[in-house]
Amino acid sequence: MDLFTPLKLGALDLRNRIVMAPMTRSRAAADGLPTAIMADYYRQRASAGMIVSEGIAPSADGLGYCRTPGIYNEKQIDAWRVITHAVHNEGGCMVAQIMHVGRVANALNKPAGSKTVAPSAIRARGEIYTDQRGMQPFDDPCTLALEDIARVIADYRQATENAFVAGFDGVELHCTSGYLPAQFLCSGTNKRSDDYGGSVANRARFVLEVLSAMASVDGAGRVGMRICPDNPFNDMHDDDPQQTFEYLLHEASVLDLAYLHAMRYPPGRVDNIELGRRYFADRVIGNESFTFDEAQRAVAAGELAGVSFGRNFIANPDLVERLQGGMALSTFDLATMYSPGAEGYSSYPRALA
Ligand SMILES: Cc1cc2nc3c(=O)[nH]c(=O)nc-3n(C[C@H](O)[C@H](O)[C@H](O)COP(=O)(O)O)c2cc1C
Repeated sequence: MDLFTPLKLGALDLRNRIVMAPMTRSRAAADGLPTAIMADYYRQRASAGMIVSEGIAPSADGLGYCRTPGIYNEKQIDAWRVITHAVHNEGGCMVAQIMHVGRVANALNKPAGSKTVAPSAIRARGEIYTDQRGMQPFDDPCTLALEDIARVIADYRQATENAFVAGFDGVELHCTSGYLPAQFLCSGTNKRSDDYGGSVANRARFVLEVLSAMASVDGAGRVGMRICPDNPFNDMHDDDPQQTFEYLLHEASVLDLAYLHAMRYPPGRVDNIELGRRYFADRVIGNESFTFDEAQRAVAAGELAGVSFGRNFIANPDLVERLQGGMALSTFDLATMYSPGAEGYSSYPRALA
């Protein structure tokens, strides 16, 4: 068994175990609308066993970065359908990463009338890029009232339904990197005194209810979850990430999800892959700075079901073929990582014509 062996994860069929990691590339149009160059970009990378899309907002409130896509209205669904068709025409598999940024936002990057929300009204330290005024402070978030939480969970459910209508094979809950689910989980950002704050069970409630809502659409076999316990990105802190994630993963494992996508970062308090394997056994996709050889070894040893690659997919649309053929990898241009347009996005050539 190696990275090129097909894999079944729940209801998802992967033709190899090389997964394209989710990457926000800021090529969407105003109001979260996917664009034609996004179809080119994903089609070029369809030989991945599975593509995890860039983070996609389940609502206008869930948007926070400039030029990022949503999946909460008909126009967006139609535009995503063009992309999933392009990937399927190449024999690929694609899941939608559902990403609600919560407090990690600036109003300039959001549609008029939308709000920046969080479990508690604590502004993230730091700044976020806007096209209009460059770097800006994060918004002061509004606290989600209990009835608002129910609506946000319903938005995740609707976004899942929309993703299937748009032709995605599955959905992945973005539960890392300081966005809304992580804001509920972590003691530093969740100061609530109701059923969604305080104890570990209460802080994990939102994520578990969201996962159940997503699984209610077409079964848990089409739902994955991405974690990275103790990730300090976006001003996050949890007093005891080991305890928080042991509880979360234990409860989530009961749902029988398709897979767990675990980033092994930062090295330190929690061994994220070991923790993931304890609860998700042979359904863990590993990520973060894997070399090809290291990934091959982990899959051959049965430690990981598959490995996702992020940055290597940017400049190597044919990453799978290059790894299989022992070909050299190209390096990407940092300047065009988040810039608008095809340059440095869908412009990277294949190794072989
Ligand atoms: C440009 C860029 C955008 C990213 N956007 C997302 C995202 O939308 N969702 C997410 O979960 N991770 C995101 N990540 C993290 C990657 O999925 C991945 O974890 C990271 O690049 C480490 O994997 P690698 O060492 O193979 O590149 C992003 C990374 C990069 C480089």
